[in-house]
Amino acid sequence: MTCEIKSAYLAAEGLMDPLLNELEGVTSVHDQLILSTQPAKNAFWAQNVWRNPQFLNIKSINDAANQLKALQRNWCLYSYTLHRRAQLILEKLPPTNSKPICFPSSISAYPLGSFTLLDENTLLASADCSSPFPNGEAHFIEDKNGPPNRAYLKLYEALTLSGIIPKSGDFCVDVGGSPGGWAWVINNLSAEVLSIDRSPLSPSVANLAGVSFQKRDAFTLLPEEFENRRIDWLFCDVICYPEKLYDWILKWVESGICKNIICTIKFKGESDLSIANKFAAIPGSRVRHLFHNKNELTWLKVRDFSDYQQH
Ligand SMILES: C[S@@+](CC[C@H](N)C(=O)[O-])C[C@H]1O[C@@H](n2cnc3c(N)ncnc32)[C@H](O)[C@@H]1O
Repeated sequence: MTCEIKSAYLAAEGLMDPLLNELEGVTSVHDQLILSTQPAKNAFWAQNVWRNPQFLNIKSINDAANQLKALQRNWCLYSYTLHRRAQLILEKLPPTNSKPICFPSSISAYPLGSFTLLDENTLLASADCSSPFPNGEAHFIEDKNGPPNRAYLKLYEALTLSGIIPKSGDFCVDVGGSPGGWAWVINNLSAEVLSIDRSPLSPSVANLAGVSFQKRDAFTLLPEEFENRRIDWLFCDVICYPEKLYDWILKWVESGICKNIICTIKFKGESDLSIANKFAAIPGSRVRHLFHNKNELTWLKVRDFSDYQQH
């Protein structure tokens, strides 16, 4: 590999095409890992971005581990070839916490780098990655009994990345909230939640103290209704066209009455880069593909958003 690689991007399973669509200077693809000659960008569809990766010429497994340790302490392996040798290098490195995350918890302050073995004597390693999770995979301790569906994991991930969570005394509006996975998370955090949906909440969530529900079309809900009430968090997981969502969310942003907004942008078939760019251009916000997102992106406009993904 002779050309200079300035960035690498890990695609989520089945989501290589939208990521490739965002990138320039691609020189090669190694399973899910894309190498590029262009400086790293906050690619929406990347599960992890490797900034300024470097090639390390390695003489042995010990030499590889020593070179990585000289760069920093914590590493995760992306293995697509020579799995045994790559694993032996990993085993020579200081241990990192690989247990599922207990929500809520804060992200480790120590950076997590990524490396891969390109051939027997060449590593590609980046000490500066966008995701605090190994290969961007946010695995949480799951609750099989409390929430009515698995959507709660998406909110766990979004809030963990945000670095702040709803707290007791906060008022949250949860649009497109049924059957109630997100409302269940908010309720568990002791915040008050008003869920809006055309379909009812699951009774196990609807009956929780601190949860209220209105059956209505999400898009009739406008900031004017809350003139005298501060909204600490606006959550939206409505299935709808991204353009319709953008026009509606802009009203909320312009009203300035929500401290924090987290919203899923859902795509039908091919994703549309121009609408993702429009969301990302809203000041103080980010667009990310979360590990728990499928063919969708998450838009976050969170006060004091932790800057771990900033370049
Ligand atoms: C992906 S589900 C939401 C899951 C939810 N966040 C949870 O944690 O359980 C999408 C929801 O959007 C609702 N929805 C779609 N269009 C809507 C609209 N125009 N107004 C209100 N709800 C809508 C659907 O009824 C559905 O419950």
